[in-house]
Amino acid sequence: MILILDFGSQYTQLIARRIREAQVYCEIYPGTKNINEIAHIKDVKGIILSGGHASVYEKGAPWPCDDVWKTGVPVLGICYGMQLIAENFGGKVHPSKNREFGFADITVKGKNLLFDGLDKKMPVWMSHGDKLSKIPKGFVNVASSKNCPQAAIADSKNNIYGVQFHPEVKHSPFGKKILNNFLFKICRLKKDWTMKSYIKDEIVRIKKQVGNSKVLCALSGGVDSSVAAIMLYRAIGKKLVCVYVDHGLQKLGETERVKKVFGPKFGKNLIIVDAKKIFLNKLKGVTDPEMKRKIIGHTFIEVFDREAKKLKGIDFLLQGTIYPDIIESATHGAGVTIKSHHNVGGLPEKMKMKLVEPLKSLFKDEVRVLGRELKIPAEIIDRQPFPGPGLAVRTLGEITEEKLRIVKEADAIVDEEIRKAGLYEKIWQSFAVILPVKTVGVMGDKRTYEHVIVVRAVNSEDAMTADWVKLPYDILGRISSRIINEVRGANRVVYDISQKPPSTIEWE
Ligand code: XMP
Repeated sequence: MILILDFGSQYTQLIARRIREAQVYCEIYPGTKNINEIAHIKDVKGIILSGGHASVYEKGAPWPCDDVWKTGVPVLGICYGMQLIAENFGGKVHPSKNREFGFADITVKGKNLLFDGLDKKMPVWMSHGDKLSKIPKGFVNVASSKNCPQAAIADSKNNIYGVQFHPEVKHSPFGKKILNNFLFKICRLKKDWTMKSYIKDEIVRIKKQVGNSKVLCALSGGVDSSVAAIMLYRAIGKKLVCVYVDHGLQKLGETERVKKVFGPKFGKNLIIVDAKKIFLNKLKGVTDPEMKRKIIGHTFIEVFDREAKKLKGIDFLLQGTIYPDIIESATHGAGVTIKSHHNVGGLPEKMKMKLVEPLKSLFKDEVRVLGRELKIPAEIIDRQPFPGPGLAVRTLGEITEEKLRIVKEADAIVDEEIRKAGLYEKIWQSFAVILPVKTVGVMGDKRTYEHVIVVRAVNSEDAMTADWVKLPYDILGRISSRIINEVRGANRVVYDISQKPPSTIEWE
């Protein structure tokens, strides 16, 4: 595997994605981690030092542990990572007069494995304020750009390379080839990370972990919990018990969909709990968004816990934790809470169960590949993301049965029209929101006074930033007239044209 040491770059996860796309396994650890504490350090065949915002010459700048330089495996430093290499081996880094941000053309000098098979000139993506002013001993300068004479350095004898630009971003069109050269020509790795091999290994691991015990799963019908459940079912069959809490905040027809997809396989081991009334009661009169989220989280745990107590012989809880969750908590610690995200967080502590986490080393799109490999229907796998607290965060003001009905029906229309237009898979998220205000309208000869529906459609790569989709007017028009005509209780439709940041994707 490849070990990626993270020094805080926004692109670190992208480095990992590119490596896994090349069918090589990799893991990310905090840049300052003592690498001897990594369980499979013996399997590491190459190390990548990521970028970061610090300056290597500053006090308190993050440094890798000394042993990183002694492993004898190839090292590639990217941006800040290259500057770490330079300083460590006796070079010098200085603030540059002109910060370089955006495209730059580099010229490759001489021959070396990192640029093997590539043209001498190529565009790359730069994003740095510091640059190398002196190359360390034993290294040669292998690429330069106008603003950055030392755009790449190499010590081919010891297999240590550094690039000032970002090969992992798509704005570096030849970056993939450069990374592949590092993996296959310098580290001499093989392409052996495939979903088939993952499933095989994971089934063996799960069987060993679970033994004869039973595993409980909180099935939501979302991509992660569905894939995790089917994966477990493959490994332990009827020893998996799934509980689906119908809290009434799902999309229209969700419970039926879950029954249809999982019922035939799981049979009696799929327990559907009708908790719609409980949730509505607890949410009565609550308008504060954070309060709503907290109530939903707690109520979910209460209902789920009550069901679990009725079952016997369960030692494990299945969690659909995915790799980004783990990286984020390991590398960034507790961030600022903008919205308290709720999935089944809090369950493990409450239930004192051991965890089974079959997706914990996968990225979101790898979970989808796994789902397809496990033959889970596209209607589950290719879904747009859906928030844990469901339509609660799209029902502004107090949540009532009536408002939930309106937002569900409107949302189903948005869904249908976006799919009909062939846009569903191309858009990150598209949905309806109901506002807690009413406006005046006229229908036939009658005055109406009804709710406003917001249509929101955004594109995003990772939900951290998002832009509104320039939907064609005729699609917007169809959605609007269908909602106003077909959904009782809504007489006005508006389109949300705000970006994230400063807005967020969801309205609460
Ligand atoms: P925001 O609204 O913060 O949303 O821009 C970013 C992404 O996260 C989803 N989201 C959630 N997902 N539990 C989840 O599992 C939550 O509580 C939650 N809140 C927001 C949102 O749909 C978007 O994809």
